[in-house]
Amino acid sequence: MDTSALQAQHFMHCWGTQANYKPISVSYTEGCYIHTTDGRKIFDLRSAHECINLGFNHPKVIAAMKKQMDTLIYVTDDFATEPTALLAQKLAHLAPGGPNKKIWFGQSGAAAVEAAIKAARMYQYIRTFKEGKHTDAPGQYPYPYKIISRYKSWHGSTSGAASASGDPRRWFQEPFTVPGVVFAPEANAYRAPDSDPLWSANYLEYIIEQEGGSNKVAAVLLEPVVGSNGIIPPPPGYLQRVREICNQWGLLLIADETMSGMGRTGKLFSIEHYGVVPDILITGKALGVYCPLTACIMSEEVSRVFDDNIFGHGQSFSGHALGCAAALEGLRVLLEDGVLENCVAMGEYLGNALKALGSQYEQVGDVRGLGLFWTMELVQDQAGKTPLRKTTEKYQKTIVSDIAQYLLDEENIYVPSDKFGIWVVPPLIITKAEVDMLVGAIGRAMAKFVK
Ligand SMILES: Cc1ncc(COP(=O)(O)O)c(C=O)c1O
Repeated sequence: MDTSALQAQHFMHCWGTQANYKPISVSYTEGCYIHTTDGRKIFDLRSAHECINLGFNHPKVIAAMKKQMDTLIYVTDDFATEPTALLAQKLAHLAPGGPNKKIWFGQSGAAAVEAAIKAARMYQYIRTFKEGKHTDAPGQYPYPYKIISRYKSWHGSTSGAASASGDPRRWFQEPFTVPGVVFAPEANAYRAPDSDPLWSANYLEYIIEQEGGSNKVAAVLLEPVVGSNGIIPPPPGYLQRVREICNQWGLLLIADETMSGMGRTGKLFSIEHYGVVPDILITGKALGVYCPLTACIMSEEVSRVFDDNIFGHGQSFSGHALGCAAALEGLRVLLEDGVLENCVAMGEYLGNALKALGSQYEQVGDVRGLGLFWTMELVQDQAGKTPLRKTTEKYQKTIVSDIAQYLLDEENIYVPSDKFGIWVVPPLIITKAEVDMLVGAIGRAMAKFVK
């Protein structure tokens, strides 16, 4: 059977035109590799949309899933199951902040972001009208409802999550975006004015004041380490300053760790690098290991609001026992079998190798990352830092797509072709020999396409 042709005939490919969709037929996966039906062994350098942190087919996770499947796979949340209860408890304890948190489980990052936005607005509504906390609000003001998100962010493709995303993919939603979102600038040390590395945090405060402060703004939503829009760790002091600003104005801080969580940056959650505690933390992708499972983790203070008020959000498979069993074993493997330590060690080795490689090229603007979350940002010229393409030209091809095609065709390495630079996001189980192999191949690709 020609699976590729069949899939292309009836399957709708995400974020792309359909006519030129030609998926590669896979026979099986293992570790960092995808084995194709025509005998190729391809290294997945994007970790399957950043989901496969533990590599494909991890035997311990597969065993835990098989065991779970023998007893129960899913019941509604009117029933309790051991994996669901244990995973909620585990995440409540592992996420930064006090242990009395509550978790809502979904199947997509977008659904978890929507949960967080609803929770933040409800929290502010209750504080304003039931607890009378915002006493400075004159009677004509509605409750604080605005969400401050940032440019160069992605929070998912459903209406609310896309409306809160500072990414050209939001434009597919326009003009029917969900109201109440205001955008602040991203925090990128590479493009910050030398005089003030924290300029964007200070500008955020200005925006909050102009948007009505604690009378109108509910929360700040951000990716602690930006993912799809450039793998951007924040400048030192930025997240701490944002936390202070949120405290001053009574705003909630929502950390979206759908991509940066689950060990990707060398800590379980990337915000831990900065010692900041968010009010709501979202994680997903690698959480369920091989199952669609995401979590919106609410602090005790936020979750208490729903003791007597309805949490108006849900998904059919919330708290899916099989997904939770996979996640529990996945967390155990990550934290107890040395995978997180491997991520730290290999991340440092990889980062140094990429920096050495990047320094040889005029068109490499910045090499940045944390853990096993790295990129080489390519620019037109180093002095001007001119991007390869403007934000409005997202769907125009650049040398990044030539590099991706070369790596796939000639080196059997799969990377995204539509980024601002070279995406280096391997599974966290990568070995030193595999890092050397990747850096060698990327070097050959750069010699061909980069000045
Ligand atoms: C930070 C972040 N939030 C949310 C999402 C959306 O997740 P999903 O595709 O599972 O809805 C993504 C997806 O890339 C993401 O990177």
